[in-house]
Amino acid sequence: MTVASLAPSELVILPLSAAMKQGSANEHEQAEQSAFMDALLGGRVSKAGYLAYLRTLRPVYAALESVGRDLAADPIVAPIFDAGLDRLASIDADLEQWAPGEDQSIESPAADAYAAAITESASWPGLYVAHHYTRYLGDLSGGQAVGALVNRAFDLDGKGLDFYDFAEIGKNKPYKDDYRTNLDAIGAELSETDRLRVVDEVCKAFQLNQGLFAELAGKLELPAN
Ligand code: HEM
Repeated sequence: MTVASLAPSELVILPLSAAMKQGSANEHEQAEQSAFMDALLGGRVSKAGYLAYLRTLRPVYAALESVGRDLAADPIVAPIFDAGLDRLASIDADLEQWAPGEDQSIESPAADAYAAAITESASWPGLYVAHHYTRYLGDLSGGQAVGALVNRAFDLDGKGLDFYDFAEIGKNKPYKDDYRTNLDAIGAELSETDRLRVVDEVCKAFQLNQGLFAELAGKLELPAN
């Protein structure tokens, strides 16, 4: 489905949650259509490829959750901060399941750039909110479908899939609705300029994800047989 992102003059009159969603609609569509996501959803991923994906995400979540803890009490971050969303421990558990005892570090300029941008977002908590939204609301949305497909593609019987398991936060749909309400409350305290800064950072976060996917695309495919 093609959804055109709105112009800044149209975005500023929306509640923040809607502005973030509408303002990044083009970027979301590009992420959905990336070769990496296509391969992942199509079950054309090798074990090594999936392992590289998890290893690449690790530094991203390490930064997200470290900055999150630092900013947890900030009035702009507090309404959405929730340690129940944390993914680092689940990524580590999955890595142990996929490749027990191995060195889980990976050379990834794209992950380094993404983690650096998250660390820099601490300079203004509104920027951090954009990164929080892009990863966690994505994980709670399309990410859930990805988890189900990975389970089927690798015949995992639910093992090594903690990354997709958000049992701690309760039911997905009401959680996401509350999250959006909290974003709107954050936005109500911001100027129009600052709301647009948040939306811009969401678009930047999507681009950083595209960078990860571009890097991973070459590592993912199963050998032709
Ligand atoms: C929302 C699908 C990739 C970030 C959604 C929703 C769907 C979806 C169906 C709407 C869910 C709802 O309204 O409850 C997909 C599919 C993907 C994909 C099929 C890959 C093939 C991504 C990626 C990211 C992302 C790579 C970012 C890293 C988001 C965000 C939302 C979202 C932030 C929340 C939008 C909002 O309601 O404000 N996705 N997505 N998605 N997705 Fe994705």
